[in-house]
Amino acid sequence: MNDKYYITTPIYYPSANPHIGHTYCTVNTDALARYKRLTGHEVYFLTGTDEHGQKIERKAAEMGYTPQEYADKITGGFKRLWELMDISNDGFIRTTDKRHMECVQKIFKKLYDQGDIYRSEYSGHYCAQCEAFWTETQLKDAGGVCPDCGRKTEIAKEEAYFLRVSKYAPRLIEYIRQNPEFIQPVSRANEMLNNFLLPGCEDLCVTRSTFKWGVPVPFDERHVIYVWVDALANYLSAIGYLSDDDSLYKKFWPADVHIVGKEIIRFHTIIWPIMLMALDLPLPKKIYGHGWLLFDGDKMSKSKGNVVDPFVLVERYGVDAIRYFLLSEFPFGNDGNFDNATLITRINSDLANDLGNLLSRTVAMAGKYFEGSLPAPTASVPEEDAPVIEAASSLWQRMDKAMDDIHPHAALAEIWKLISLCNKYIDVTAPWVLAKDPDKRERLGTVIYNLAEALRVIAVAVSPFLPNTSPKMFEQLGIEDEALRTWDSIKEFGGIRPGTVLHKGEALFPRIDAKKELEFLDNMIEEQRKKAAAIKAAEENAEAPAKLAETAPAETAPAEEKEPDGKPMIAYEDFAKIDLRVAKVLDCVEVKKSKHLYNITLELGEEKRTVLSGIKDWVKPEDIIGRNVVIVYNLAPRKMCGIESCGMILAASTPGDADVVPLTTLKDIPSGSLIR
Ligand code: ME8
Repeated sequence: MNDKYYITTPIYYPSANPHIGHTYCTVNTDALARYKRLTGHEVYFLTGTDEHGQKIERKAAEMGYTPQEYADKITGGFKRLWELMDISNDGFIRTTDKRHMECVQKIFKKLYDQGDIYRSEYSGHYCAQCEAFWTETQLKDAGGVCPDCGRKTEIAKEEAYFLRVSKYAPRLIEYIRQNPEFIQPVSRANEMLNNFLLPGCEDLCVTRSTFKWGVPVPFDERHVIYVWVDALANYLSAIGYLSDDDSLYKKFWPADVHIVGKEIIRFHTIIWPIMLMALDLPLPKKIYGHGWLLFDGDKMSKSKGNVVDPFVLVERYGVDAIRYFLLSEFPFGNDGNFDNATLITRINSDLANDLGNLLSRTVAMAGKYFEGSLPAPTASVPEEDAPVIEAASSLWQRMDKAMDDIHPHAALAEIWKLISLCNKYIDVTAPWVLAKDPDKRERLGTVIYNLAEALRVIAVAVSPFLPNTSPKMFEQLGIEDEALRTWDSIKEFGGIRPGTVLHKGEALFPRIDAKKELEFLDNMIEEQRKKAAAIKAAEENAEAPAKLAETAPAETAPAEEKEPDGKPMIAYEDFAKIDLRVAKVLDCVEVKKSKHLYNITLELGEEKRTVLSGIKDWVKPEDIIGRNVVIVYNLAPRKMCGIESCGMILAASTPGDADVVPLTTLKDIPSGSLIR
C-alpha cells in the first residue's frame, strides 16, 4: 500500500471573513484527511490563504488598511475558525509567506529561462473581482459579463509575460483522456475538455503591471505575477519545493487530491497541470470539484446578506453537530441547499435521537441489568442478531469505498444505517421484556453485548467526522485500550471484552428547542439581509440615503450643488423656512405595497397627521409607538403607494445605513412643540 497521502483545500481569499461555504470545503477535506490517518496513511493536509491581487488591494484600501494588515486580520479569522472546527491541517500556507514568494519567483524564473514564459503584450476583458481575463467567446457566452461572477469586465491592455499553454495543451488533452480518475466528478472532465481545451487554448498572460500587490517578477519588478500562478504554486511551496529543505516535497509530491470548489476546477485542471508539465513534475493524482452550498436556492454572498456565519452556529450547537450537518446533508459533488429548518431537524433526529439515544439506552441497560459490567455473548448467533453483526463487521468496507470515491456523505450514511439497525434491534429484542424472565438472562446479555460492540464500531467509524464525539463514546463504553479504537479493530465483530465497565455520561447531543432555534436562525439571516439591502441601497443611491429615499421630496437638490464634504452653507433665513415640530407617534403600521415604509399616525397638539417613513428595516412599531419624534412639518405633501404623506420624520444614520435611529426629545414635552 502506498501509505503517504497529500491532500489540500483551496487557499482562500482573505477578502472577507470566512463563511459556511469555506467551512464546508475544509470540514470535508478534514474528514478525508482524518480517515486516511485512521486507515494507516501518513497524511499531509494543507490549507491556507491566497493574499495577493487587486481584489485584496482594493478591499484593504476601502477599509483603511494596508493590504498586508488587512490580509493579516482576515487570515487570523480563518485560522481561528479552523481551530474551532477541529481541523487537523498539518500545514498552513500564506501566499505572503517569504518561503512561498521565493518559491514562486524561482518557478517563474525557471520557466522563463527555459522559454516556457516569454514577454509580449496583452489586451483583453478583465474581471478585477475574479482576477481573470476572458476571451471574446467566453464573455459572449456569458452575456457580456464575467462568466464566473456575473460582473462587468473592463478592457485591460498591458505589456506582459505569457505562459506557453498552447505548447502543452495537446499533451494535457491526451493526459485527461488517458486518466479518467484525474478530474472528478467525471462530468467536470468533459466540461473542461469540451469547453476549454478542445476549442483551443491561447497562451496565458501570467503577469500584471496595473497594480502592485503581488509577487514581483524577479528580473522585471514592474510586473507582479498573476495571482493564479502565485496561488497554485502554494501546493509546492508549502512542502518546500526548490527550498533548502525539500524533504516534505520529496515525500509527498505528487499530491493525492486537490479538493476545490467547482468554479475553480478550470484553473486546477488546465493552468496547474501545464505549469507542472513545464516544470517536468508529476501531476496531482486527482482534482475533485465539489458543489456549492446555496442558501434558499441562491448563491451565498455578503452583498445579499444570506451568508451563514459558522462561528455563530458552532457557539450555539457545538462543533460536531455543525460538522455532521455539513458532511452528511450535501452530497459532495453536487450543489446543496443550506436551510435552517433542516439543520435543526438533523441535530435532533440524527444526533440526539438516533445516535445519542442509542448510546445512552445501551449504557443505561448495561447499568440496570448488569451493574454496568458488560456480559458475555452466547456463542451461537440467533437470526435476529445477524443483520447488526453483519452490518457492523462489514461497515469498514463500505466506508472505504465511499471515502475512496471522495463521498464523505455516503460514508456517514453507511454509519447511520448501522445506527438505525441497532435501534430496530432494541425494538425487536425488547430487552426490558427479556429482563423480566430469569430464563432469558443469557439472551439479554447477548443483546446488550452486541449493542455495545456495535457502538464501539460506530465510535471508531465516526472519528474522522465527529472527532469530539468519538472519545466521549469510548469513555461511556469503557474502552481504554487503544487497540480497540483502531480501524483494523472494527474489521471483526467481537472486540469489546466481556467485563468491560460502562459509564453513564452526559447526553452526546442534547435535544434543542426546534421552534426557538428556527426563530433565532431565521431572524439572524433576516437581519443580515436587511443590513445588506440597506448598504446596497446606500451605495446605489449615494446622494440620497436609503432611509429617506422614499420620504424625501421629489425636488431634492441635485448632487452637483453639494459641497464635497456635505451640503452647501445656508443662511439662517433658509433654515428658518423649515418648520420642525415634536410629534407623538399614535400608531405605526406597515404599508402593504412597500418593503420599507410604515404608515405612521402622529399627534401634534390637537392635530393628527399621516406620515410615511422608510424606517421599517430598523425600527419595530412597538419601539416607536408612544414616543416623541421630530418632523419636518411644512414639507409639501407627497403621495406614495396611494397614501398621502404629510411631513417627514427625522432620523440619524450610521455609514452605509447599517443603523437608522429616529430622533426624539430628551424628556417628554407636549406634542406640536416647535423646534428652534
Ligand atoms: O477561489 N459553497 O478562493 P475563495 C461551497 N483563492 N464552497 C464554497 C462556497 C460555497 N458557497 N464559497 C466558497 C479562491 N467555497 C482562490 C483559490 S486555490 C490555489 C486558490 C469554497 O476564497 C470552495 O471550495 O474564493 C471554493 O472553491 C473556495 O471556497 C473558493 O475560495
